[in-house]
Amino acid sequence: MNEDDQNLLEKLKGVLEEDGLDEVCRTLYDNKEHYDWVGIYFVEDGEKLVLEPFKGKKTIHTEIPFGSGVCGRVAMEGKTIIVDDVCKENEYLSCSPHVKSEIVVPIYKENEFVAEIDIDSNTENAFSEEDKILLENIAVMIGSVI
Ligand code: SME
Repeated sequence: MNEDDQNLLEKLKGVLEEDGLDEVCRTLYDNKEHYDWVGIYFVEDGEKLVLEPFKGKKTIHTEIPFGSGVCGRVAMEGKTIIVDDVCKENEYLSCSPHVKSEIVVPIYKENEFVAEIDIDSNTENAFSEEDKILLENIAVMIGSVI
Protein backbone atom coordinates (compact mmCIF):
# COMPACT_ATOMS: atom_id res chain seq x y z
CA MET A 1 0.00 0.00 0.00
CA ASN A 2 1.35 3.49 -0.78
CA GLU A 3 2.15 5.90 2.06
CA ASP A 4 -0.88 8.15 1.51
CA ASP A 5 -3.22 5.18 1.64
CA GLN A 6 -1.49 3.84 4.75
CA ASN A 7 -2.06 7.19 6.44
CA LEU A 8 -5.68 7.26 5.31
CA LEU A 9 -6.24 3.71 6.60
CA GLU A 10 -4.75 4.72 9.96
CA LYS A 11 -7.01 7.77 10.09
CA LEU A 12 -10.06 5.65 9.21
CA LYS A 13 -9.33 3.28 12.13
CA GLY A 14 -9.82 6.20 14.50
CA VAL A 15 -12.85 7.49 12.61
CA LEU A 16 -14.50 4.05 12.70
CA GLU A 17 -13.89 3.65 16.44
CA GLU A 18 -15.01 7.13 17.39
CA ASP A 19 -17.60 8.20 14.84
CA GLY A 20 -18.87 5.10 13.03
CA LEU A 21 -19.57 4.08 9.46
CA ASP A 22 -21.26 7.29 8.36
CA GLU A 23 -18.02 9.19 9.00
CA VAL A 24 -15.99 6.46 7.32
CA CYS A 25 -18.00 7.11 4.14
CA ARG A 26 -17.56 10.85 4.52
CA THR A 27 -13.80 10.56 5.11
CA LEU A 28 -13.33 8.43 2.01
CA TYR A 29 -15.51 10.77 -0.04
CA ASP A 30 -13.58 13.83 1.19
CA ASN A 31 -10.09 12.35 0.85
CA LYS A 32 -10.26 10.71 -2.57
CA GLU A 33 -11.02 13.06 -5.40
CA HIS A 34 -12.16 10.27 -7.74
CA TYR A 35 -14.68 8.88 -5.20
CA ASP A 36 -17.91 10.65 -6.23
CA TRP A 37 -20.31 8.41 -4.32
CA VAL A 38 -19.47 6.19 -1.34
CA GLY A 39 -21.96 3.84 0.31
CA ILE A 40 -22.24 0.71 2.41
CA TYR A 41 -24.92 -1.92 1.71
CA PHE A 42 -25.82 -4.48 4.37
CA VAL A 43 -27.10 -8.00 3.75
CA GLU A 44 -30.70 -8.48 4.83
CA ASP A 45 -32.50 -11.82 5.11
CA GLY A 46 -29.65 -13.48 3.20
CA GLU A 47 -31.12 -12.35 -0.12
CA LYS A 48 -30.84 -8.61 -0.60
CA LEU A 49 -28.59 -5.62 0.03
CA VAL A 50 -29.91 -2.58 1.87
CA LEU A 51 -28.17 0.79 1.66
CA GLU A 52 -27.26 2.35 4.99
CA PRO A 53 -24.67 5.14 5.26
CA PHE A 54 -23.69 6.90 2.06
CA LYS A 55 -22.13 10.16 0.85
CA GLY A 56 -23.06 11.67 -2.47
CA LYS A 57 -26.35 12.04 -4.28
CA LYS A 58 -29.43 10.07 -3.26
CA THR A 59 -29.98 6.87 -5.22
CA ILE A 60 -33.10 4.92 -6.10
CA HIS A 61 -31.11 1.70 -5.54
CA THR A 62 -31.54 1.49 -1.79
CA GLU A 63 -32.39 -2.24 -1.97
CA ILE A 64 -30.66 -4.60 -4.39
CA PRO A 65 -31.53 -8.32 -4.64
CA PHE A 66 -28.58 -10.75 -4.70
CA GLY A 67 -27.68 -11.33 -8.34
CA SER A 68 -28.87 -7.93 -9.53
CA GLY A 69 -26.43 -5.27 -10.77
CA VAL A 70 -22.75 -5.11 -9.88
CA CYS A 71 -23.54 -5.09 -6.15
CA GLY A 72 -25.73 -8.16 -6.48
CA ARG A 73 -23.01 -9.93 -8.46
CA VAL A 74 -20.45 -9.27 -5.73
CA ALA A 75 -22.96 -10.76 -3.27
CA MET A 76 -23.04 -13.96 -5.38
CA GLU A 77 -19.33 -14.15 -6.21
CA GLY A 78 -17.92 -12.87 -2.91
CA LYS A 79 -15.04 -11.01 -4.55
CA THR A 80 -14.21 -7.40 -5.38
CA ILE A 81 -15.40 -6.21 -8.80
CA ILE A 82 -14.01 -3.17 -10.64
CA VAL A 83 -16.03 -1.85 -13.59
CA ASP A 84 -13.86 0.43 -15.73
CA ASP A 85 -16.70 1.61 -17.96
CA VAL A 86 -20.24 1.16 -16.67
CA CYS A 87 -21.66 1.65 -20.20
CA LYS A 88 -20.17 -1.72 -21.15
CA GLU A 89 -21.64 -3.52 -18.13
CA ASN A 90 -24.85 -5.39 -19.03
CA GLU A 91 -26.07 -5.83 -15.49
CA TYR A 92 -25.24 -2.32 -14.30
CA LEU A 93 -27.86 -0.50 -12.18
CA SER A 94 -27.45 3.20 -12.88
CA CYS A 95 -27.67 5.70 -10.05
CA SER A 96 -26.64 8.75 -12.06
CA PRO A 97 -25.83 9.44 -15.73
CA HIS A 98 -22.55 11.01 -14.56
CA VAL A 99 -21.14 7.77 -13.15
CA LYS A 100 -18.52 6.18 -15.40
CA SER A 101 -16.80 3.54 -13.25
CA GLU A 102 -17.40 1.61 -10.06
CA ILE A 103 -15.73 -0.61 -7.45
CA VAL A 104 -17.62 -2.92 -5.09
CA VAL A 105 -15.82 -4.67 -2.23
CA PRO A 106 -17.37 -7.38 -0.02
CA ILE A 107 -17.17 -7.16 3.78
CA TYR A 108 -16.93 -10.35 5.84
CA LYS A 109 -17.54 -10.81 9.55
CA GLU A 110 -16.00 -14.03 10.79
CA ASN A 111 -16.05 -15.49 7.26
CA GLU A 112 -19.69 -14.59 6.69
CA PHE A 113 -20.55 -12.14 3.90
CA VAL A 114 -22.38 -9.29 5.69
CA ALA A 115 -21.99 -6.06 3.70
CA GLU A 116 -20.36 -4.24 0.77
CA ILE A 117 -18.52 -1.00 0.16
CA ASP A 118 -19.71 0.54 -3.13
CA ILE A 119 -17.91 3.47 -4.74
CA ASP A 120 -18.81 5.28 -7.95
CA SER A 121 -16.64 7.65 -9.93
CA ASN A 122 -17.58 10.19 -12.58
CA THR A 123 -14.28 9.33 -14.32
CA GLU A 124 -13.79 6.31 -16.56
CA ASN A 125 -11.16 3.77 -15.40
CA ALA A 126 -10.94 5.54 -12.05
CA PHE A 127 -10.17 2.53 -9.86
CA SER A 128 -6.75 0.92 -9.69
CA GLU A 129 -5.22 -2.03 -7.86
CA GLU A 130 -4.25 0.50 -5.16
CA ASP A 131 -7.90 1.41 -4.57
CA LYS A 132 -8.71 -2.30 -4.38
CA ILE A 133 -5.98 -2.90 -1.78
CA LEU A 134 -7.01 0.13 0.28
CA LEU A 135 -10.72 -0.74 0.21
CA GLU A 136 -10.16 -4.43 0.95
CA ASN A 137 -8.16 -3.36 4.03
CA ILE A 138 -10.99 -1.06 5.06
CA ALA A 139 -13.46 -3.92 4.53
CA VAL A 140 -11.44 -6.12 6.92
CA MET A 141 -11.37 -3.28 9.44
CA ILE A 142 -15.14 -2.77 9.21
CA GLY A 143 -15.81 -6.54 9.35
CA SER A 144 -13.95 -6.77 12.65
CA VAL A 145 -16.17 -4.20 14.39
CA ILE A 146 -19.68 -4.69 13.00
N1 SME B 1 -24.35 0.55 -9.68
C1 SME B 1 -24.74 -0.40 -8.67
C2 SME B 1 -25.98 0.08 -7.94
C3 SME B 1 -25.71 0.90 -6.77
S1 SME B 1 -25.29 2.50 -7.16
O1 SME B 1 -23.94 2.49 -7.78
C4 SME B 1 -25.22 3.43 -5.81
C5 SME B 1 -24.96 -1.76 -9.26
O2 SME B 1 -24.93 -1.92 -10.49
O3 SME B 1 -25.18 -2.70 -8.50
